[in-house]
Amino acid sequence: MPAFTATAPGKIILFGEHAVVYGEPALAVPVTSVRARAVVSPRLNAAEGEILLEAPDVGISQTLRNLPGRHPLRAIVEELTALLELPHFPACTIQITSTIPISSGLGSGAAVSTAVAKALAGFVGTPLTTNQLSSVTFEIEKIHHGIPSGIDNSVVVHQAPIFFIKGRPPERLSIPRSFQVVIGDTGVHQPTKKSVTQVRQGWMSDPSRYETIFAYIGDIARQARRLIESGSPADLGPLMNENQRLLQKLDLSTPELDRLISAAREAGALGAKLSGGGLGGNMIALAAGNAGLITDALKDAGAVQTITTEIEKS
Ligand code: PMV
Repeated sequence: MPAFTATAPGKIILFGEHAVVYGEPALAVPVTSVRARAVVSPRLNAAEGEILLEAPDVGISQTLRNLPGRHPLRAIVEELTALLELPHFPACTIQITSTIPISSGLGSGAAVSTAVAKALAGFVGTPLTTNQLSSVTFEIEKIHHGIPSGIDNSVVVHQAPIFFIKGRPPERLSIPRSFQVVIGDTGVHQPTKKSVTQVRQGWMSDPSRYETIFAYIGDIARQARRLIESGSPADLGPLMNENQRLLQKLDLSTPELDRLISAAREAGALGAKLSGGGLGGNMIALAAGNAGLITDALKDAGAVQTITTEIEKS
């Protein structure tokens, strides 16, 4: 059995995070300049089913069976073994590397799961369909998030801009005019589970206030889709700012995010907001031919990393 390699991109949510968990639409795009990579290679002298994991970025170098029961990497192998109806997986080494910042809203968990599942399935000679890959990754997202909407696995597996409503197949966005977004990382890592749980608790204690905010966010996502698909992405700025105001009302922004968002707007971004779970992680800013100026301003305001990503015509 030859070694098999697979990769998967990062992602950003342009509009609609959190409200998407409650049935509102959201828009997400892949970020292909950062990727998770998995290489599965045979272990010739190991006992059957003996799987070695090498993930230096997160300090893992051990056999699968020594990981805790609900560890995401262990769960991927278990999901695939069941899906492919294998008695056990052939002995192998899984090497995982990633350039996607962890717990930062860029979909690192979904990308790692997708790359590993793809590489494992390829290794045993049974490539997965897009839907199978998406549902395996979704199962692992439940461990990461608790109650994921399914947007992360959808955008990462489809590797295309999507309009997403929970429980429905993702719709591919048409992009008649390309646009540029600058991503700024606060360097503050927060697991998505924490922000998703915070929103859930808020919603349980005041459902009507939360549902009103979710509905506004949903309207913004629908308006954003119309602007993107009618070739007017430069008009998205005010919608981004309004989405950010609503995320602030949900207590998902932080002083670090607010500082980067203000710096981007002052540098000439058309709009800016946090992206993903919030409480830290990344923000995004819509550029107007001024990505360089926005990048410099974000760095001056303390961004630990910036990425300029092009949402290409498609
Ligand atoms: O994984 P993150 O931090 O990009 O967040 C995913 C988006 C949420 O709406 C917060 C959760 C979800 O499952 O949709």
